[in-house]
Amino acid sequence: MGREAPIGVFDSGVGGLTVAREIMRQIPNERIVYFGDTARVPYGSKSRETIIKYSRQIIRFLLTENVKAIVIACNTASAFAIDVMQNEFDLPIVGVVKPGARVAAETTKNGKVGLIGTEGTIRSGVYAAFIKSFRPDVEVIGKPCPLFVPLVEEGMLHDTITDQVAERYLGTLKERKIDTLIMGCTHYPLLRSTIGRIIGEQVRLVNPAYETAQELKRVLDREHIANVQEVDSPSSMYRFYVSDAADKFKAFANSILPFDIAMTQQISIEQY
Ligand code: DGL
Repeated sequence: MGREAPIGVFDSGVGGLTVAREIMRQIPNERIVYFGDTARVPYGSKSRETIIKYSRQIIRFLLTENVKAIVIACNTASAFAIDVMQNEFDLPIVGVVKPGARVAAETTKNGKVGLIGTEGTIRSGVYAAFIKSFRPDVEVIGKPCPLFVPLVEEGMLHDTITDQVAERYLGTLKERKIDTLIMGCTHYPLLRSTIGRIIGEQVRLVNPAYETAQELKRVLDREHIANVQEVDSPSSMYRFYVSDAADKFKAFANSILPFDIAMTQQISIEQY
C-alpha cells in the first residue's frame, strides 16, 4: 500500500465528522475515505456482537477503497470492536478510546475523571479500563447522555432545551467533584461550549477526536506510511460514503466542515 493511499474513517453516521475534521486540520496532506453508517445509526444502544458485525462489514468495504489505515471514529465501535478488528485485519487500526483515556489520565490532578458517552460506551467499561492501566488510582465516573446525539443532529447546539438536558446529565458529575471530563461520543465536541459552561471552567474537557488525530499521525510515521506528496484541493482529497440518506449527511457535513463536500455516495453495506 502506497503512502498516498487514503485513511479509512468510519462512524455510525455524521458524528465521526468531528474526528475527520481533526485529521484534516492536523494532517492536511492525508486523503480520507469516510463512511457513515446512516442506515443503522445509532450504535450507542446496540449490543457488542452487532457492533462487531457492523464494524467488520465497514472495514471490508473500506479495504475495497485501498485504504492504508483505519480510524474507528465512533466511540461505541472503538469500545466494543477495536480488539477484534485489530486481530482480524492486517493494517493499522486506530480507535478514539485509548488516546482519550491516556490524556484524561495525564490531565486529572484530583484523580476524579468524568466520562460522558452512549450507553454502550459507558457499559463497556473500556475507557475506565484504559485510564486505570495508565493510572490505577483514578476513579472514573460514567454518565450516559443519549439525548445529546439527537439534539446535535437537530442543530440545537445553542438552545435552552439543550441547556436543561445538560444540567440534568452533568449534575451528578458536578456533585462528585470531577476535575476532568471526557467527551466520549463523536457528537459531544459540538456541544463543547454548553458542556463547558454547565460543568464549570475548573473542569478540563478532553476531546478524544483531537488526541486520535495525534495518535494517527504517530502511527503513520512509525509505519512509514505518512503521505509526503503535495496535496490537492479538499474536494479531491476526501470521499464520503453513507448507507442511507446521503443528502441529509451532506447538509450536516457542510455545516461543520470548513469546505463544502462535492458528493456523498450511498452504498449497500450489508453486502460486505
Ligand atoms: N458515534 C456514536 C459514538 O461516538 C454516537 C452515535 C451513535 O449512538 O451511533 O459513540
